Amino acid sequence: MKILVTGGAGYIGSHTVCALLKQGDEVVIVDNLCNSKIEVLKRIEKICGKTPTFYQISVQDEVKLDEVFSNEHVDAIIHFAGLKSVGESVLKPDLYYSNNVGSSEVLIKLMKKHHVKNIVFSSSATVYGTPKRVPLYESDPIGGCTNPYGETKVVIEKMLQEEAKKDPSLNVAILRYFNPIGAHPSGLIGEDPQGIPNNLMPYITQVACKKLECLNVFGNDYDTVDGTGVRDYIHVMDLADGHLAALNKLYQNPGLVIYNLGTGKGTSVLELIHAFEKANNLIIPYVIKPRRPGDIATSYANADKAYQEMKWKAKYNIIDCCKDAWNWQKNNPNGYN
Ligand code: NAD
Ligand code: UFG
Repeated sequence: MKILVTGGAGYIGSHTVCALLKQGDEVVIVDNLCNSKIEVLKRIEKICGKTPTFYQISVQDEVKLDEVFSNEHVDAIIHFAGLKSVGESVLKPDLYYSNNVGSSEVLIKLMKKHHVKNIVFSSSATVYGTPKRVPLYESDPIGGCTNPYGETKVVIEKMLQEEAKKDPSLNVAILRYFNPIGAHPSGLIGEDPQGIPNNLMPYITQVACKKLECLNVFGNDYDTVDGTGVRDYIHVMDLADGHLAALNKLYQNPGLVIYNLGTGKGTSVLELIHAFEKANNLIIPYVIKPRRPGDIATSYANADKAYQEMKWKAKYNIIDCCKDAWNWQKNNPNGYN
């Protein structure tokens, strides 16, 4: 099959591209490199022995994207492209709406024009807002997000649901990722945040390699096992596999499907720090700070539906995640630079 991967040069996209190439698919990446580096393509080639076709364009650029569709005749789309910083989205909501929602509108328009019937969309556990209960089920209400980034995901999910309703021949998989961490076991590709990381695992790995002095733990007074925030950390390799499973599901013409991609297990900030220390025989200095505005206490998935309907479940554990995250960071202290 030939798969168009928007945002394929990014963190989750690059791992998914490797998984697709490994199973013999052809891959066409569309990425404007606003949050990724061209070097990733060389790394993908090193891992897979193949290079994907690459177009450095924005998904918002309808004219250029139309040409890609005309040239490539793809069977399916995986739509990763988007801006993802929660904090930045609060400061620049218009940018997030125009980039994330705007590019999805263009993509949907062109996929219809070119009769592409299968699309997988990168959504997020953030669509559940502040959970009323955990674990989170796909049937739980969405919306009420505390930030514009999350709202863009809700809006795009709704757009895709509308399209699926209008055209029963369209197959849409909405994947709600929990907290992706880790890296390809080769240490050649991984997460490469620009500036000071917002997310916990890249912060930990940068403390481990002494680029940052000390980890700030945001709050230890939540109603959780040790007072720190609990999340469902999932290895990015498992997440990549989830996309292959979703594509296989789409090829059976299911219409609209929605799956949580998580492990079903919650891990606190302190538990993650200790797992990282144990996995890599390192000490991570940390200090307790006030809660981070907008954070919730606990979020983890019920991931049964993905297993029941796609036979997908996470295989890597938290120690594997910590080993692979550190392997990537120590081999690439400055990311792809
Ligand atoms: P990333 O920033 O590493 O990758 C996104 C890629 O999209 C980047 O390479 C960027 O250059 C590209 N891009 C952005 N806007 C574009 C545009 N208009 N046209 C073309 N390319 C564009 O992020 P990631 O962590 O790999 O996330 C991938 C997707 O998964 C995103 O949609 C994100 O919102 C979603 N997601 C991520 C997480 C997470 O914690 N990493 C969690 C839930 C959902
Ligand atoms: N945390 C710290 N210190 C840090 C960074 C994070 O203590 O330096 C804590 C947070 O307070 C939270 C936990 O670590 O309790 C996880 O925080 P992350 O920033 O790594 O992840 P979030 O759950 O806040 O959000 C991430 C993405 C969102 C996405 C969500 C669900 O940033 O975009 O996972 O997929 F929507």
